[in-house]
Amino acid sequence: MYFQKHIFFCYNNKANQSGCGDVITDDPVPYVKSYLQALDKWGEGKVRASKSGCLGRCANAPTCVVYPDGIWYSYFDNDDIKEIIDEHLLNNRIVARLKI
Ligand code: FES
Repeated sequence: MYFQKHIFFCYNNKANQSGCGDVITDDPVPYVKSYLQALDKWGEGKVRASKSGCLGRCANAPTCVVYPDGIWYSYFDNDDIKEIIDEHLLNNRIVARLKI
């Protein structure tokens, strides 16, 4: 695979202010990128994070999904995202408390 893991964060804004982009408290993709770059775990053959449009799980906003595993999370802030990085992206352990 080109990336071992690829996490997509929905940044979609909705007119009724209920989209993930409307409720994100931190900016997850730059956070994930800088965190993984510091560990030399970012890029080809490693891990990647990308912004996305609506992922279709709006009721759980804000959401992200990890591929190739197809595991979905709802998170609050970068503390939650750090846990997803440390546990799932780097060690293949699903974060049950954030999983949707
Ligand atoms: S607005 Fe984020 S999943 Fe739909």
